[in-house]
Amino acid sequence: MTTITACPIAFLNQTNSFPAPSAEVVDSIQAYLCHLAAQGGPQPSEYSQLNTVIDVLAEWLRKGALTPEQWHAIRTSLGDAISTDTIQGMALHKPHGYAGDYEIIDRIYQYYVSDNPSLANWDKFFHSHSAPKAVRNRVSYFLSQVWDAHLRHPQEARILNLASGPGRDMYEALKVLGKTPVYFDCLDQDKQAIDYASRLCADYSAQITFFHCNVFRFKPARSYHLIWSAGLFDYFTDALFKRVLKRLLPALAPGGKLVIGNFSDRNPSKGYMELFDWILNHRSEEHLRQLAEDCGVAPANIAIDQEPEGVNLFLHIQG
Ligand SMILES: C[S@@+](CC[C@H](N)C(=O)[O-])C[C@H]1O[C@@H](n2cnc3c(N)ncnc32)[C@H](O)[C@@H]1O
Repeated sequence: MTTITACPIAFLNQTNSFPAPSAEVVDSIQAYLCHLAAQGGPQPSEYSQLNTVIDVLAEWLRKGALTPEQWHAIRTSLGDAISTDTIQGMALHKPHGYAGDYEIIDRIYQYYVSDNPSLANWDKFFHSHSAPKAVRNRVSYFLSQVWDAHLRHPQEARILNLASGPGRDMYEALKVLGKTPVYFDCLDQDKQAIDYASRLCADYSAQITFFHCNVFRFKPARSYHLIWSAGLFDYFTDALFKRVLKRLLPALAPGGKLVIGNFSDRNPSKGYMELFDWILNHRSEEHLRQLAEDCGVAPANIAIDQEPEGVNLFLHIQG
């Protein structure tokens, strides 16, 4: 292996030829990542260079330009930086069997940083990305939607939370709202996520009912003033997206609102996530609007919003 330890960007610029990088370029990337791992992860001044390397790697992967052996060698040069002691390592190893599990998502909400000094900088690097920032922004966005439902239905606001995950957004909202007449029906396919969220939201158990259920088998038995789902529909193909949306629309109470989160196709962290096999169906505003129209929603009842990072879009459907 070459002994290059500085960032290989200049080297990449000279030799970066698609479809296949030379063995020398692959060696230089391995050496660079080994160097970062040995120094205890990237410093903020190195983020931009590292992100450039990440985007090049992601592009090679999309184009099938790396052999499995090359990709394995590049990944393993990161050592413990891709163990489950880091969030990026958890994303890669998927200890709960799927990408975006409740534990990773709650580590994002809580800005988890490994207490191992040689790994902490990797978690800080992870959190510097737009995608985790967008996830954290979901909490206040959710609160604003719940608050709005409460104002519109002060006697009793019924909310359906599809794929409720760790329940952190509900916990934070209920901490602010207190014991107001806001009631959540929550659905998740992962029993461990439900147990975790139940414990987290134990103080508000009178306001929350959990259902352990796959959304594809779920048929709403009542109507809701707010139907919310974040971090779910961007795992669906267009066909599945529409299938689930069509089933939800009749459950909107008159004047109710349905809000579906979906990562934007402008997500700057897309390449980084792909390196850990965290694959989403990124969509544009127009695409989301079209999917709603395909389900029979009148254009006047569709709006698209986003959180401050501009990465998590929200499809709003007015009932
Ligand atoms: C990325 S997390 C989002 C959690 C939460 N909505 C949030 O934004 O914090 C995705 C959650 O969706 C759940 N999930 C994925 N596919 C599902 C399905 N088909 N039916 C029900 N839940 C599902 C997972 O178990 C996981 O808890």
